[in-house]
Amino acid sequence: MSIFSGSASKKLAGKIAKDLNLELSLVEIFVFPDGEKRIRIKENVVGKDCVIIQSASIPPDENYMELFIMIDALKRSGANSIKVMIPYLGYQRQDHIFRDGEAVSLEVIAEILTRVGMTELYSFDFHSPKIPDIFSVPVHQLSALPIFAEKIKQDFKLSEIVLVSPDMGGIRRAKEVSEMLGNVPLATIEKNRNLASGEINDAGLTGEVRGEIAVIIDDMISTGQTMVEAAELLLENGAVKVFVFATHAVFAKDAGKLLQHSNIERVIVSDTIDVPAFNQFPKLEVISIAEVAAKALKNQ
Ligand code: R5P
Repeated sequence: MSIFSGSASKKLAGKIAKDLNLELSLVEIFVFPDGEKRIRIKENVVGKDCVIIQSASIPPDENYMELFIMIDALKRSGANSIKVMIPYLGYQRQDHIFRDGEAVSLEVIAEILTRVGMTELYSFDFHSPKIPDIFSVPVHQLSALPIFAEKIKQDFKLSEIVLVSPDMGGIRRAKEVSEMLGNVPLATIEKNRNLASGEINDAGLTGEVRGEIAVIIDDMISTGQTMVEAAELLLENGAVKVFVFATHAVFAKDAGKLLQHSNIERVIVSDTIDVPAFNQFPKLEVISIAEVAAKALKNQ
């Protein structure tokens, strides 16, 4: 197996390759002055099973474009199979039409990935369970949730916590973690977003958090607004402290600053996205999913 890293996932790809006792394979990514990229595979991949690791993190369009061209370069160089690991699958929040006139952007991404030559997809914690159906190649959904459950077991007394889903869409995820922890109590926030602006309009809470430590579980943190507002609501309702776990640290805009200066005690994320130095902050803790990723690739 030959493993290639795109420019968005160098740290994670290095760890995964190490776990597999492999060196990362060589690819040249040259950026022209206008921003276009030229990709060149620098080793013999004829007949080989190849893996590309590239998150669709910020800037998603650029990272996707680089990935499309890498797949094409591998196909033209004679690779036998091209497995693509997109630890954070960008555009997955646009998996269906919400309002008249919209595109289904994730279908466009899936179409291009398969057209250029992706033979299998690996990714972590999808936003919705329907996402694998959009792809016409095998999809392996991996998860950071068991790692989060272990961490919760180590860091908290389970009798003192309540797990919280920050919106209705996340109940399934929080419930999964609750089951891993022997059915820890659950609470849910019902959040209404303005579909045009993305702003959160209002939020309400179902479940009892008074006197408990609230542990929020989500798939991603983008601007951080959801988490900060959820923490305020939980504290207003009597929670003693709020901790946050999310698989994907998208960290758009000033998410780092917002989270650091919030009422949240600690923000625990996985490394499906390499968090750049400017987005790191003292309350942040990153747990690696490299071992899970390596194991999945080894078993195929
Ligand atoms: C929403 O459905 C997702 O699960 C996240 O809660 C959301 O995308 C987070 O966005 P933000 O951090 O910008 O509030």
